[in-house]
Amino acid sequence: MNDASQMGSVQGPQAIGLPQLSVIVPTFNERDNVTTLFRRLEKTLAGIPFEVVFVDDNSPDGTWQVVRALSAEDSRVRCIRRIGRRGLSGACIEGILASSAPYAAIIDADLQHDETQLPKMLALLETGRFDLIVGSRYIEGGSSESFNRQRASASQLATEVAKRALRVSIADPMSGFFAIRRDRFEALAPQLSTQGFKILLDILASAQGKLRVKEIPYTFGSRLHGESKLDSLVALDFLGLVLAKLTYDAVSLRFLLFAMVGCLGLAVHFVALYAALKIFALPFPEAQATGAFCAMTSNFILNNFLTYRDQRLKGFAILRGLLLFYLVCSVGLFANVGVAFSVYDQQPIWWLAGAAGALMGVVWNYAMSGLFVWRKR
Ligand code: GDD
Ligand code: MN
Repeated sequence: MNDASQMGSVQGPQAIGLPQLSVIVPTFNERDNVTTLFRRLEKTLAGIPFEVVFVDDNSPDGTWQVVRALSAEDSRVRCIRRIGRRGLSGACIEGILASSAPYAAIIDADLQHDETQLPKMLALLETGRFDLIVGSRYIEGGSSESFNRQRASASQLATEVAKRALRVSIADPMSGFFAIRRDRFEALAPQLSTQGFKILLDILASAQGKLRVKEIPYTFGSRLHGESKLDSLVALDFLGLVLAKLTYDAVSLRFLLFAMVGCLGLAVHFVALYAALKIFALPFPEAQATGAFCAMTSNFILNNFLTYRDQRLKGFAILRGLLLFYLVCSVGLFANVGVAFSVYDQQPIWWLAGAAGALMGVVWNYAMSGLFVWRKR
């Protein structure tokens, strides 16, 4: 009897008001869009128990304040305000993991995705026949009216590369609009990269074909307020994700970006060395030092913009970071030469020794930069 009354007081899964769908909305400077989006969700999801989790990276325009006000009026709305962090994928992952419905959908805040597809997405998931429903621009009935030609062809090219390299077979793996079963997502979450923009591609690649996916067409609309946060660096980001997945995550996306920047630095070094020798007629040691100086500086700038974009140094911190970066790289050079020399001592094969030294250098620079230059707050 005691048992029975205790059981009665426990709120079981029958408790009313639990959401069936969690809608996750990543936001950055979307102040003028979030209220409209919520009103539209309310309308289109009428009759479906749902919650909306906005994940805002401390937008300078105060998006989180608008969302907070909404959530003070309606318990279905929540706001996660992240401080000191940036990134669409990471925001989506955190949003899903902070929500509780058996199904989760990701939708952009800027009204470019068609929220009226959500009931259909949910219904398809509820049949139990699918794990993931993707809003697709590239199947019959879908389109992207707002992409300019340049962006459209870049998107197509990236899609082709992704399909071939990662053996992802759906038409629109770059879509930012999809719904997924919670259990499937939770299983994959530890493998996902929090960096970058391509969370769907990451999910598909990490699942290695084990998800039952269905695409439904939708029209990618145009933005009403604010601007896109996707810049040209996204292409490099994307390349990094493809490489990381190809190595089965043996190397992190951040390390790959760091190494790619390093390769660009090599090119900068040679151009500067050539210019110093041929144009400014400097003696070789000075010319070589000039090359190294230029390469380190450009590497720092690129790493600050790309590799560590989520922890980008600003203002006075840039100067401090740059000086620390010079220091780290100078020590890295000693490590590089030291390793190359001892390898050459054992086996006088120049390229093997050179590669070993370069690898040592980049690993050192990467480890120390993460510790001292772009420290996690
Ligand atoms: N929290 C957070 N942090 N949100 C972000 C960040 C960030 O660093 N960057 C962008 N967002 C939010 C934006 O506020 C918006 O709600 C959504 O993510 C998409 O960003 P946009 O800048 O509008 O991207 P887009 O329109 O160029 O591209 C979108 O649609 C494509 C087609 O579906 C993205 O979803 C792409 O991933 C997608 O391929
Ligand atoms: Mn957009």
